[in-house]
Amino acid sequence: MKELIVIKCGGSTLDQLTSSFFRSIIEMKNSGKNIIIVHGGGPHINQVLEQMNVESTFVKGLRKTTEDVLEAVEMVLCGKVNKKLVTSIQQVEGLAVGLSGCDGKLLTVRPVDQENLGFVGEPTDINTTLIDSLLAEGFIPVIAPIGVNEEGTHYNVNADSVAAAIANAFGAHELVFVTDVDGILQDDHLLPKASCEEIEQLITDGTIYGGMIPKVVAAMKSLTGNVKSVVIMNGESDQSLYDGELIGTKIFKSENTQHVVM
Ligand SMILES: Nc1ncnc2c1ncn2[C@@H]1O[C@H](COP(=O)(O)OP(=O)(O)OP(=O)(O)O)[C@@H](O)[C@H]1O
Ligand SMILES: [Mg+2]
Repeated sequence: MKELIVIKCGGSTLDQLTSSFFRSIIEMKNSGKNIIIVHGGGPHINQVLEQMNVESTFVKGLRKTTEDVLEAVEMVLCGKVNKKLVTSIQQVEGLAVGLSGCDGKLLTVRPVDQENLGFVGEPTDINTTLIDSLLAEGFIPVIAPIGVNEEGTHYNVNADSVAAAIANAFGAHELVFVTDVDGILQDDHLLPKASCEEIEQLITDGTIYGGMIPKVVAAMKSLTGNVKSVVIMNGESDQSLYDGELIGTKIFKSENTQHVVM
């Protein structure tokens, strides 16, 4: 079986990703690995919500999603953002297919807290059938984080948790969170590695806040499942994803667990 790399491209960094970033994804693929991309789109959603005069608030890094917000989220993520990423990959000779968690019953979710967060879902099941056939045909699936519950209602899902659920379902070799910061920062310094215990402490003392919370929570969950290695890195750095050792924050289960080192 080919090694699988799941790459989560943060909405925060999408517009800054260069063709060399996408070329390094193709290099990884050409070296015999399967690639799945999951993307966010926070800033793009904010822009459209502003144009629509719809207010949006965050609770612990998750966007409170009313029906109006959901409409904008779905439009932006499944439309503009997803297709732009697909095109960027195809411009460097890759073959990509854009889809959301709705397609092929890929992502089943349940509400996180309907009363306080509205249509925000969390993954409960991944149907691997469609992605398996796309990978077998040589495509790079590009997934927008919209999920569906058993009744067919659509939900906005934090892209970090979708990436982790997919990485777990497919037993990914690596889960890479590409974002707009170099990794987990403490007093402006990059932590080259962090254990789950350290991360819990950094959340408690407020060092990790906002959008970094769902990211590290997703990272930690994936490590207790089938994922071997997790790194948070900057998409704007010159570093190629293909360069063996990725520079960023490597997250591992505990000080004694060495298998997470990339
Ligand atoms: N300790 C920390 N170290 C680094 N960044 C942190 C920390 N705590 C909070 N952050 C914030 O987390 C942000 C990254 O998460 P954010 O959700 O904004 O981006 P993303 O997940 O890449 O994009 P999207 O949510 O659109 O997919 C950083 O820009 C920073 O503001
Ligand atoms: Mg985020």
